[in-house]
Amino acid sequence: MKPIQVGLLGIGVVGSGTFNVLRRNQEEIKRRAGRGIEITMVADLNVARAQELVGPGVTVVNDARAIIANPDIDIVIELIGGYGVAKTLVLEAIAAGKHVVTANKALLAVHGTEIFAAASAKGVMVAFEAAVAGGIPIIKALREGLTANSIQWIAGIINGTTNFILSEMRDKGLDFAVALKEAQALGYAEADPTFDIEGVDAAHKATIMSAIAFGIPVQFDKAYVEGITKLGAADIKYAEQLGYRIKLLGITKRVPAGIELRVHPCLIPAKRLIANVEGAMNAVVVQGDAVGTTLYYGKGAGSEPTASAVIADLVDITRLHTADAAHRVPHLAFQPNAMSNLPVLPMSDVVTSYYLRLRVADETGVLAKVTGILADAGISIDAVLQREADEIGLDSVSQPQVPQTDVIILTHDCVESKMNAAIAQMQALPSVLEPITRIRKEELA
Ligand code: HSE
Repeated sequence: MKPIQVGLLGIGVVGSGTFNVLRRNQEEIKRRAGRGIEITMVADLNVARAQELVGPGVTVVNDARAIIANPDIDIVIELIGGYGVAKTLVLEAIAAGKHVVTANKALLAVHGTEIFAAASAKGVMVAFEAAVAGGIPIIKALREGLTANSIQWIAGIINGTTNFILSEMRDKGLDFAVALKEAQALGYAEADPTFDIEGVDAAHKATIMSAIAFGIPVQFDKAYVEGITKLGAADIKYAEQLGYRIKLLGITKRVPAGIELRVHPCLIPAKRLIANVEGAMNAVVVQGDAVGTTLYYGKGAGSEPTASAVIADLVDITRLHTADAAHRVPHLAFQPNAMSNLPVLPMSDVVTSYYLRLRVADETGVLAKVTGILADAGISIDAVLQREADEIGLDSVSQPQVPQTDVIILTHDCVESKMNAAIAQMQALPSVLEPITRIRKEELA
């Protein structure tokens, strides 16, 4: 059978990795897919550079629409990113009857419903293994490997940039801003790192996993998103002293009232495997009712790791190309007519436990007032730690007139709305000298 023909939109880091791995492993991939898979056209604004990368046998154009219009092309790989021109081209490729492979998490998290509906109407596949956790086959695991399970929750380190920064903060006792500069100098963080450090990239990925795990539409607009920019070295140190690590987690959870979907820094017990995922690595824990806890670990970005996921999608599509569209694996794991309308809950309804750090005046009765507010709110305290002035870096010279101390409180579970109200009350105490730091805590048991 003639090889399946692929057109590649954008040959940057992931595109060139895809081209190279596909060429290097072509014989093995063919034996798996049942026919050859060939990238025969590439669209890139820098035609000369692209041609140099792919060699003379591949047609390089600067107009992506030349690929979409070519009737010989069966699959279009979109590696442009963002939801501007990428969205237009993906919809045009679908309308032209092409299957689409994309690594574009932002596009799917925000416009997935429209794109999947267009693909279903046209009878083509949209595959996106590379959109979540790079080389880790987490989409495949959720959609197929764990299909017997009622998924209970997913918690993932799904942004390598922020995990690298947090690892550096912990290893070297750095504050966020210093660790970010270091990550940028080493090429782990982009010049504009906003999407990574503010948690947006992780929220795109968590949104996609949530949809597949629970059979709900992709709803990025309902996700709670908080990044790592406000974390200090002190919080990482105190968490450590209490037996926890701080990680930026993407969490989605089924609870009686609906679905939680949230990204925020989180204390997790240091003894959990996921707490020990360091540097730019990614890991996802999935809890299913039948299988129990499973953990997936690997590189969440990079040329060939991400290419590994893109090519897995190419092989899937090649195998299913001639199958009746109704019998293919559904885009979001559940049949389109069997999606659930479970609501994604507002953050104020989420129940979790908390780490609080209060910089207070070291005066009689302060701790009693603080704990009294928590008690009145019905919030139960799990542990309290008080750090003296010298331990928080205030020596006899830098110590202000009113002696200060850090009070760290771990709470048991309570609903976020109650904690918001209690924090507002504590913040209003004259003895509380700085904005209170609140970090959520998950035992992931
Ligand atoms: N910027 C992402 C990360 C990789 O740092 O993990 C692509 O999503």
